[in-house]
Amino acid sequence: MIEISNITVRFGGIKPIDQLTASLSAPVAGLIGPNGAGKTTLLNVLSGFVRPQEGSILLAGAPLLPLSPLKRVQAGLRRSFQTEQVVEDLTVHDNLCAIADHVVPPAERARAVEAALAHVRLTSVADMMGPSSISSSAGWWNSANASWVSRS
Ligand SMILES: Nc1ncnc2c1ncn2[C@@H]1O[C@H](COP(=O)(O)OP(=O)(O)OP(=O)(O)O)[C@@H](O)[C@H]1O
Ligand SMILES: [Mg+2]
Repeated sequence: MIEISNITVRFGGIKPIDQLTASLSAPVAGLIGPNGAGKTTLLNVLSGFVRPQEGSILLAGAPLLPLSPLKRVQAGLRRSFQTEQVVEDLTVHDNLCAIADHVVPPAERARAVEAALAHVRLTSVADMMGPSSISSSAGWWNSANASWVSRS
């Protein structure tokens, strides 16, 4: 359960989120609105990339906004991105290693990366560069990303 109370976000003169109050509980199927309505801004607020000027959010009863993005992942929050977020000159394997640096203790990284690759069935493209693996395995990054956080 995510409880949003009176969230306001301003970017200069633009106020895409204005005193939003909502309770999100499974299953939430979608967030709809016209271009520029503030959908991505809300996801950025929830995941910690945008800090609201006002309001509070509880995740399972605990304050969310004081937490860093990583702490939010560790608290159980998950997100994927509209477009793949890939370091283009790293392989699939090394893209995952770059994330592992932030979420897995050093001694567990190699095993965790192999397990994540196997879980999303991307072991066979592990040594391909990010962009070429995307064209041969569409959406791998978001699936790997989602898998990763669900295992961390
Ligand atoms: N970091 C930012 N700095 C300044 N303005 C921003 C920033 N992020 C979003 N905006 C502005 O806030 C408004 C809401 O944008 P947002 O991306 O949240 O909309 P959206 O509902 O996700 O739109 P779309 O359907 O096009 O994805 C837009 O006017 C956008 O230009
Ligand atoms: Mg958007």
